[in-house]
Amino acid sequence: MKQVTSGLNGLDKIIEGGFLRPSVILIAGTAGTGKTTFVMQSLFNAAKNEEVCMYITALSEPIAMINNFMSKFSFYNISLLGKGNVKYVPIDIDIIHKGSDAIIKEIERNIESIKPDRIAIDPVNVFAYGLDGDAQRQFYYDFFASMKGWNSLVLLTGEFTEKELIKSALSYLVDGIIYLSNEPFYENNIRYLNIIKMRGQEFQGGMHSCGITKDGFMVFPRLHKPARTSILKERVSTGIKGLDKMTGGGYNRGSAVLISGSSGTGKTVIGTQFIVDGLLKKEPGVIISFEEEPLQIRENSKMFGWNLDEYENKKMLKIISAFEFDIHNLAGLVEETIREVKAKRLLFDGVAKLQHMLPQYMPIANYMENIVNFLKNQNITAIYTNETSNLTGGC
Ligand SMILES: Nc1ncnc2c1ncn2[C@@H]1O[C@H](COP(=O)(O)OP(=O)(O)OP(=O)(O)O)[C@@H](O)[C@H]1O
Ligand SMILES: [Mg+2]
Repeated sequence: MKQVTSGLNGLDKIIEGGFLRPSVILIAGTAGTGKTTFVMQSLFNAAKNEEVCMYITALSEPIAMINNFMSKFSFYNISLLGKGNVKYVPIDIDIIHKGSDAIIKEIERNIESIKPDRIAIDPVNVFAYGLDGDAQRQFYYDFFASMKGWNSLVLLTGEFTEKELIKSALSYLVDGIIYLSNEPFYENNIRYLNIIKMRGQEFQGGMHSCGITKDGFMVFPRLHKPARTSILKERVSTGIKGLDKMTGGGYNRGSAVLISGSSGTGKTVIGTQFIVDGLLKKEPGVIISFEEEPLQIRENSKMFGWNLDEYENKKMLKIISAFEFDIHNLAGLVEETIREVKAKRLLFDGVAKLQHMLPQYMPIANYMENIVNFLKNQNITAIYTNETSNLTGGC
């Protein structure tokens, strides 16, 4: 058994390296959740690595239409089709009407001549259409038994709601299930990917944000690191003399500190002062602001005599504003940025604003939990500022 890349940005991180070959993976979801994009991207990227790939479809829409749609994505490469590394195999409706034996025979005839490493069948339910419960189950058993002999990575797409998926025979036959979903949020669609099972390998469960862009499917893994085994006893200066005295020497290194208060009480200043104190001591820092643009932060800091540009040029400081990035990639961005500047200190300014950027069913506390734990685990001292409506307001 070999581990091969999924070909999707961010997905290999969640499934600890990629898919196993041979195995059968079901990509399930309702209409328009990105199943075709997912498998096509996987095939085209594998083909770039010299894998031979086969795309089987039984859709009534002609293959030329799917091809045309896929050609808008950057992963699409017509020369791979010409070279024969990606082969399209349409299954005729007459064969589907003849039933499971005829379908399997036709697919296997193509497998014998193409000898693919990776196969996508999009969508698999069409073959079992119109069959009653028992006949459908029997079809999937037969189909699955033959797939095991193909010695390839088989990606099936299936149009299923989560409830239908649990009831379907397919769900316990396949080696892995990835469930795609799509929820409207104001004028946008928020897409999620959930690994339901992946036999024989570790994976990160739960909902992962994802998106479809011209580069295809993009998965934004949540940060995941084991809990700390030891806590540093070291103190880090707050950058404010009086506060250092009050706290017995500053914040604990690697802790998460929440600074809460109403508007104009100086939360951003306390946070920035902490970052500047670090820079003076050669400890790189990151400022992520949900309230102000980097330009504004730089200007405001000048009033205190802090020249942040100087440290940005020295690559010791990075200032990012929430207006500049996809909120669903916050976790990825934090990880990348702290690695880039080797940050020891971080300021999240105005975290409460984050709630307005997230769908209502995703509470900010759950969303931030992974990020907070990740930073603690890296011994990065982080300040979170939070605006409350009055001084004694909830924090
Ligand atoms: N460049 C792009 N940027 C953003 N979204 C895109 C882009 N291209 C396609 N999409 C989105 O991708 C989705 C289509 O994905 P796809 O056809 O792979 O879904 P599917 O699950 O296979 O659908 P079906 O059930 O119709 O087979 C659409 O919602 C479309 O809006
Ligand atoms: Mg489709």
